Amino acid sequence: MIQKKNNIRDDFPIFKNHPELVYLDSTATTQKPKAVINAMTAFVSDDYATINRGIYSLSYHATQKCLAARKAVQNFINAKSEKEVVFVKGTTEAINIIANSYLNHVITDSDSILLSDMEHHANIVPWQQIVSPNQIKVCNITNSGELDWDDFKKKCQNNPKLISLTHVSNVLGTINPIKELIAYAREHTDAIIVIDGAQAVGHMAVDVQDLDCDFYCFSAHKLYGPTGIGVLYGKYELLDEMTPYQTGGDMIELVSFEQSTFTKPPAKFEAGTPAIMEIMGLHACINYISTIGFKHIQEIEYSLYEQLINEVQSLKDFTIHGESNHKAAILSFSIKDIHPHDIGTIMDQEHIAIRVGHHCAQPLMKRLAVPATARISIGCYNTSEDISKCVTALKKVVDFFK
Ligand SMILES: Cc1ncc(COP(=O)(O)O)c(C=O)c1O
Repeated sequence: MIQKKNNIRDDFPIFKNHPELVYLDSTATTQKPKAVINAMTAFVSDDYATINRGIYSLSYHATQKCLAARKAVQNFINAKSEKEVVFVKGTTEAINIIANSYLNHVITDSDSILLSDMEHHANIVPWQQIVSPNQIKVCNITNSGELDWDDFKKKCQNNPKLISLTHVSNVLGTINPIKELIAYAREHTDAIIVIDGAQAVGHMAVDVQDLDCDFYCFSAHKLYGPTGIGVLYGKYELLDEMTPYQTGGDMIELVSFEQSTFTKPPAKFEAGTPAIMEIMGLHACINYISTIGFKHIQEIEYSLYEQLINEVQSLKDFTIHGESNHKAAILSFSIKDIHPHDIGTIMDQEHIAIRVGHHCAQPLMKRLAVPATARISIGCYNTSEDISKCVTALKKVVDFFK
């Protein structure tokens, strides 16, 4: 049963250890609840052993725990089978696998792929290693920071081999209508569809069967879980036909010096000893989020975002980047004549952690015609007081420079 929790902040030791901290950089990475820290510590203290290969009980139980984690991920994103859940380091590695193990084997010189102007470098650079620049088509965004539907439809006419889009922009906060975009692409192209879910999974329920994407990628560390672990979801038929780009132990059937044969997905893509402890953390963060429920997480995040938007109205020369009606609680902004790094530095003196820079989205910075932005991003542990302190500090920044 989903419980409504009121004291979420108390679940996160970082706030006890840094009572003055106002953490507003959850888009970069989220803080970790005790549930995740304890699950990882308990596993290492009580249950740690290698998985898949040990005949002894400790290893058997560790293996069972990893299988349970995979099952939990399957349920979390509603994949058809746990065999469609590949454990990876994170979103970046997931996309690299698709680029190298899928695209690399099917792309021809006359093919194109379709990305968008709001993609993170993780959803640009891996493709660039496989195709030439003229094969990469880019869907425009509108001035309010939404995908330009007309341009998307126009670029689908090229019948791209692959379309890879972010679910939620890490800069603009825009939540793309990916279900509708995928449905359109299915009807008008033969493209394989990849969704970068790095910024979505911590804020909304994701149902990969309902979306009908071919691949969906995310990182646990943006989901209140540990670094070093993430998920590549892929439709089984696709994973099955793909050739792994990393090979070694744990992913083979037979090995001789003449040749090796590979096992089935997901193990086929999990060469080497996996991040066992982090897999426990991933399972724990999924359980943690499920206890709170996305409805409650969204209530918190949206009410704080609304407060933030109302309070920044009073700031002079304040420009918001990304004004879609359908947004996550992410606010990128510029203040005229003040460099974002100066904003970030002064905010830090007030113990307010926000992100400044290009946010690994240099093409988007170019589109917005700014070198960098400042970004405030809200997580389920933030409070109304955090927002007020943040806006007070922003006022100080303006007063200092103007
Ligand atoms: C939209 C988006 N995609 C991909 C990534 C890359 O995630 P990771 O660094 O966890 O692989 C990020 C990280 O900020 C992101 O925001």
